[in-house]
Amino acid sequence: MNIVLLGPPGAGKGTQAKKLFAEFAIPHISTGDILRAAVQQGTELGRKAQPLMSAGKLLPDDIMIGIIEERLKQPDCSNGFVLDGFPRTIPQAEALDKMLRKNKCEIDRVISLEVPEEVLVERLSSRRICPKDGAVYHVLQNPPVRAGFCDQCSTGLIQRDDDKEDKVRERLRVYAASTEPLKAFYRKKGLLTEINGVGSPEGIHVEIRRAVDPASGQSART
Ligand code: AP5
Repeated sequence: MNIVLLGPPGAGKGTQAKKLFAEFAIPHISTGDILRAAVQQGTELGRKAQPLMSAGKLLPDDIMIGIIEERLKQPDCSNGFVLDGFPRTIPQAEALDKMLRKNKCEIDRVISLEVPEEVLVERLSSRRICPKDGAVYHVLQNPPVRAGFCDQCSTGLIQRDDDKEDKVRERLRVYAASTEPLKAFYRKKGLLTEINGVGSPEGIHVEIRRAVDPASGQSART
């Protein structure tokens, strides 16, 4: 099962991708996580990515396409994948189609999580992440047991540099200009399902499951 999760920053793509991984055992491929790991390791990619990410801008398409092309060749993707954060532009989407066609496979469903802007800004300013294992918390709605520390590894939680309000507004602007047009791109192909991303993460997962797994019921708004 090959799934693409679309949605603005803070829509819950990472949260839902983890649930899909847990249920369907298909890898969660987050380009944001790949880039943050490269920044942390100080690789050449990380040095290129860091200033763009902290300014809320996108990395060049050729770099991102190369990363995904390599990642999709890994054996764990042979039964499918959940893409979170890729594609983000029309050229990335076209390149993804081309790579999949070459491997005689295709996208099964594109889920777009719909969340109003003020909810996104609130979610992101309250998000804290574990720099060691990537666990994600919300200070009010999904707090760690011990405030400020990861439940799994006790590492001190941090706020992502690009989760400050001014950076969030810029990321939302970039999303509207570069990524939102993908909804029309995938709608035309009959692959898009829009799902309300406000509500409990569990309830939203049920909606996504219905959309990606026809055996579990009717899909949402397509
Ligand atoms: P990336 O890491 O992909 O950031 P993003 O798309 O902006 O998405 P986020 O991780 O901020 O949000 P999310 O939708 O995953 O939400 P989450 O589940 O964490 O990219 C970062 C940067 O990398 C980009 O700006 C760019 O510079 C670069 N980049 C990456 N990919 C690229 C590409 N393809 N091309 C070019 N550049 C690229 O949830 C958010 C918060 O809300 C959490 O606290 C969570 O607990 C909470 N939450 C989740 N669901 C709910 C719910 N239902 N109710 C209440 N709270 C919820």
